[in-house]
Amino acid sequence: MSFALSQTQSYPAWRSRWVFILAATGSAVGLGNIWKFPYITGENGGGAFVLVYLLCILLLGIPVMLAEVMLGRRGRQSPVNTMRQLTSDAGLHGFWRSIGWLGVLAGLLILSYYSVIAGWALAYIPEMGKGTFQGAGPLESQVFFDALLADKGRLLGWQSLFMLLTVGVVAFGVVKGLGVAVRILMPLLFILLLAMLVFAYRHGDFGGAAAFLFDFNFSALSGRSVLEALGHSFFTLSLGMGSIMAYGAYMPATASIGKTVLTVAMLDTLVALMAGMAIFPIVFAHPDINPAAGPELLFVSLPVAFGAMPGGLAIGMVFFILVSIAAWSSAISLIEPAVAWLIERRGFNRFTANILLGLVAWALGLGTILSFNDWSGFTLGGFTFFGAMDFLTSRILLPLTGLFIAIFVGWIMPHVTVKEELNGNNSLMYPLWLWVLRYICPLAIGVVLLVGLYDTFAMAS
Ligand code: TRP
Repeated sequence: MSFALSQTQSYPAWRSRWVFILAATGSAVGLGNIWKFPYITGENGGGAFVLVYLLCILLLGIPVMLAEVMLGRRGRQSPVNTMRQLTSDAGLHGFWRSIGWLGVLAGLLILSYYSVIAGWALAYIPEMGKGTFQGAGPLESQVFFDALLADKGRLLGWQSLFMLLTVGVVAFGVVKGLGVAVRILMPLLFILLLAMLVFAYRHGDFGGAAAFLFDFNFSALSGRSVLEALGHSFFTLSLGMGSIMAYGAYMPATASIGKTVLTVAMLDTLVALMAGMAIFPIVFAHPDINPAAGPELLFVSLPVAFGAMPGGLAIGMVFFILVSIAAWSSAISLIEPAVAWLIERRGFNRFTANILLGLVAWALGLGTILSFNDWSGFTLGGFTFFGAMDFLTSRILLPLTGLFIAIFVGWIMPHVTVKEELNGNNSLMYPLWLWVLRYICPLAIGVVLLVGLYDTFAMAS
């Protein structure tokens, strides 16, 4: 029958906005919250950085997230096609229609190194269990970590396992695979984090940690810290690459986007702060550990603290399970936009699309693995392969797409459409949101992008 052909492809919607909230929170809460947030907070001196970070979430993260979810639900397709259709509806030139592509690219690049670091977390689970860090000092812990990084085979094994877990879930689809996975993983993560907090409260320096995170000492804050906070607010909320847009496509038409987005952003921020309050008390209870240790904070410093505490190894195991779960539900969202596109556009079935893209990200990840050993001396403009991937994605590609989204929704898309999709929403919040999206967001993201490009240039020359 011919009328069937003219029907637009319709996405199955999740049963309630709660599944969306869980899935989006699963995407948002990841290594960014538990690994990166504590260490960049440590590096940037604590309190003042946390304050700036919170402001960035409020002024940049939440408005852009709202725009992304709105676009996703409006388009009800994969992010690439949603952007293609909406930009063409708005009469934009063909070039702009390909913006969704940058997102797919960014997702695969992020996944390639994300899976390596998630692999470290997986590797630490059995090590905690075996008692490797029992009574270990900072030096021994460092030696262990360095040995792990030097061992290509082990890194490869854990990275591959993590990648298999990721494609395993995505193969079952967004509603069945993902929807089910997050309903189990997210509550579990929350419970584990609470257990960690209780442990940190009983055995760590809770007061010292609270002072470090919440005493606003602005002398430690530099322009670079502000940039770091801006960039991280994007990364932690999974913005600028289509993850959130892809999930938005499954959101029930009647759900309020505004409330939903606020909930997700609040949960993400809560988890980051909880992670900080779980980690820093343990760090401060141990005189040898430097809170500004950087990326190693989680893998070198923390195990020392676990190894020195009663019951610490069991809790340490719980902790690395928690990190792995958080990373897992984020990795799913890194690959989903690309999978959705291959299915929709190229007629792939979900399984094949998934395997293919998983292989691409896995192969790219070999570069990151090697950058910790064989290629560690090989740098491009001061970056190792891993450093370059991280920089390219979080300082260039994500801001670029984010900038486009803010400008497109703020200035180009017809306001009636935007308003309609937001359920004709709330008279007071709408103009405020639009104003922030039109002026504040492009300005802030523009600065991040320009400095990023400048740095690239400066380092290359
Ligand atoms: N937000 C996740 C974290 O904090 C990572 C992530 C998932 C992400 N999807 C994304 C980051 C999309 C940027 C864009 O670990």
